[in-house]
Amino acid sequence: MQTADKDERMKKLVSLCKRLGFVYPSGEVYGGLQSAWDYGPLGVELKKNIETHWWKEMVSTRPDIVGVDTSIITHPEVWVASGHVKNFHDAMVDCMECKSRFRADHAPGEKCPRCGGELTEPREFGLMFRTKMGAVEDESATVYLRPETCQSIFINFKNIVTSTRQTLPFGIAQLGKAFRNEITARNFIFRTREFEQMEMEFFCLSDDAAKWFDYWVDKRMNWYMALGIKKENLRLRPHTPDELAHYAESCVDIEYTFPFTTDGFGELEGIANRTDYDLRAQMEASGQDLSYVDQTTGEKVVPWVIETSGGVGRTFLAVLLDAYREEIVEDRTRVVLGLHRDLAPVKVAVLPLSRKLSEEARQVEEMLRPHLPVVFDVTGSIGKRYRRMDEIGTPFCVTFDFDSLEDRCVTVRDRDTLEQIRVPVEGIVDVMTRLMREGWQEEV
Ligand code: GAP
Repeated sequence: MQTADKDERMKKLVSLCKRLGFVYPSGEVYGGLQSAWDYGPLGVELKKNIETHWWKEMVSTRPDIVGVDTSIITHPEVWVASGHVKNFHDAMVDCMECKSRFRADHAPGEKCPRCGGELTEPREFGLMFRTKMGAVEDESATVYLRPETCQSIFINFKNIVTSTRQTLPFGIAQLGKAFRNEITARNFIFRTREFEQMEMEFFCLSDDAAKWFDYWVDKRMNWYMALGIKKENLRLRPHTPDELAHYAESCVDIEYTFPFTTDGFGELEGIANRTDYDLRAQMEASGQDLSYVDQTTGEKVVPWVIETSGGVGRTFLAVLLDAYREEIVEDRTRVVLGLHRDLAPVKVAVLPLSRKLSEEARQVEEMLRPHLPVVFDVTGSIGKRYRRMDEIGTPFCVTFDFDSLEDRCVTVRDRDTLEQIRVPVEGIVDVMTRLMREGWQEEV
């Protein structure tokens, strides 16, 4: 795709997100808060569906992974031990003319990449959000909003082993907010200062770490494809030795073809072999023994860790970009969000052909409501209503027409093939739940 086309596509998507209620600029009535975004009624459903999909894949369907939900405000010593207080800085430069700020490595010359003005010397910029805890500000302790969710997993390792009796190898997962005072937060929800991470730390013996690393790279890549993201738009990129984080022995990023990136790809998730670095660092700083004792052999080890660490916002954006398409149907452009049915915020729309049929059609909506997220829409022509549903990614529409009064049947329409089938009202719940489970192809 040409750069102009990519820019255009991104613009259209950002505008669709606001217009239809996926994502709004935060604080818009006051002129907006830079890089902060609010998820609207459709956005919150899509986001929750992505999170549920991840939790199901990583926790509820696996006997060897448990979940936690830990405090965002974390003991400050955690971030000293993890190396964040010392290392989590970016060097940044300011343009003295246009006042733009850049990461020093993003402005490699002497001049401002935006206006050609003079740049300041690089200065260190701490990426952690700091706040005070306690009633009296002067006396209160400095604490940090966590910049990643995983450190609380490491500090709880012993608690979790004791209370769950999990044996190696096993994982601990967490999904929650993280905060980074990014110098350049931009590109819609791709890089924000407040975001959600989906992280899983898989503890194993050091000899098995390479095997589990390969296993998780494969598993995680397949997960993105299971969300409906096209394989050709994803790639795996191993880190070069000079870009590896201080804690990692190896790392592979899963990347997506985000339209605004310079080399065509941007990071969705990192899979890292973190060795025993974190457990040892937290053990040393806290003086607590966080090692694991094998109950049968009595052997004591500090396990190695394979981490999978992805972002909900970036997955959300990739899912939308991948699903967005424009196509010509009967000489008119139709915009479709071809979302996987598991992710679609609304699963089925009930549409009476005429207002006069509203009462009977409402009964169909009421039958479906306990089983599936359903909307009822009676405003505008049926063609317009179909298009509205296509645009928000609703996989199925159920139309109640005048014949329905006689034959007690309704028409079910598939968003992608535009095929239609006629089914009895009495069986509509079974048909829709089967369609949601198996998809349209199996139905027709
Ligand atoms: N525990 C390892 C860790 O935090 P990371 O590569 O810094 O690794 C993991 O972050 C994931 O979190 C990224 O792949 C990305 O999806 C998401 N992420 C990181 N910073 C982000 C930001 N400023 N805005 C949105 N998502 C971000």
